[in-house]
Amino acid sequence: MIDYKYTITEKENASEELVIRFLSLAKCPKINCSGSLKCIGDNLRCDMNTSHVIHRSKYGNFYDFAPPDEDSTTLWAQDSIYASEKIARHYTGLWAFGHHFLYDSELLKKGWHVGRGETDIFYRLILQLVLEKYEKDDSYVMCDIGCGVGRCTYDLAYLFPKSLVLGLDISDNMLRMADRILFQERDIEIDLSDAGFGKRVISRRNLPVINNAVIFQANAERVPLKAPFEGGGFDLVLNINVIDRTLNPDAIFKSSMAIVKPGGGLLIAVSGSWQQDGHWNRYGANIDWCLELLQSKNFILEFISDRVMFREIINNQGAYEEYPLYVIFARRESR
Ligand SMILES: C[S@@+](CC[C@H](N)C(=O)[O-])C[C@H]1O[C@@H](n2cnc3c(N)ncnc32)[C@H](O)[C@@H]1O
Repeated sequence: MIDYKYTITEKENASEELVIRFLSLAKCPKINCSGSLKCIGDNLRCDMNTSHVIHRSKYGNFYDFAPPDEDSTTLWAQDSIYASEKIARHYTGLWAFGHHFLYDSELLKKGWHVGRGETDIFYRLILQLVLEKYEKDDSYVMCDIGCGVGRCTYDLAYLFPKSLVLGLDISDNMLRMADRILFQERDIEIDLSDAGFGKRVISRRNLPVINNAVIFQANAERVPLKAPFEGGGFDLVLNINVIDRTLNPDAIFKSSMAIVKPGGGLLIAVSGSWQQDGHWNRYGANIDWCLELLQSKNFILEFISDRVMFREIINNQGAYEEYPLYVIFARRESR
């Protein structure tokens, strides 16, 4: 059992302001409800239907917008590898934050480049693209859809300290890990024994906690955030390695586009092996479909790269999985 030890007073004070900003961007996630949300104690309640309550998660600093009884959420949980506790550990320790183990000279001596040179290059490319298009000192609202264990959410919040970054994901286990990484004060121990690496620790010295992000649990098929015409909208929406591994790529893609402000950007990474046989192409979408959809919603393509390799280390026996990714940055036309 994870023991969450926050410095409670500091954290609660800091998060109150964030929650208010977050609420100005969020809306009630219930089907056919267009209500806004208000804080009632620890929970959120819809101002149009008071039986619509969103619970503050018992785990930490996030809210649960994804009622488990909804069909698509239940199906997702049965289908997806990202529901498991094991993948959350491996995603963190081997891929999303694996580069932190480079500080571990024992691994370096063995020649293991866990993270850096592998998946970390990809994350750095994503960040580089954002840094080319956004000013670090400006104040933006950004949203990381399918944030997983929070690598991009963390990077954006850290590098854009005046901005607010929202991370949403449907997976309880991925978010629990993100919650530890983004907000927990102490060092983060990840047990990678089942991948042969033993227990590893990410030091807080190398990964300071952040205070300008909120994470919440929701189904991205119907993102419970306000679109520009509803008084919301984001300067940047990230959709990194999500649409190609979920039950309903069409709905996720469309709801990601809907919350981008006019003039704002959508940054997408999607597997290039989508059209080949395999796990990720079961749902029949492909890159042409992606580009056509962007154009049909008045997004202008500013960047596309088709051969970024994502190389995931699997275990300490040197097993890897790798696949090419398309990375796309598209900007919504200004009105
Ligand atoms: C491959 S991971 C990518 C995580 C993160 N974007 C990154 O690049 O490090 C895919 C994530 O998408 C999430 N996901 C899949 N379907 C989703 C849905 N319908 N709603 C929200 N999140 C979803 C999974 O739970 C998982 O955390």
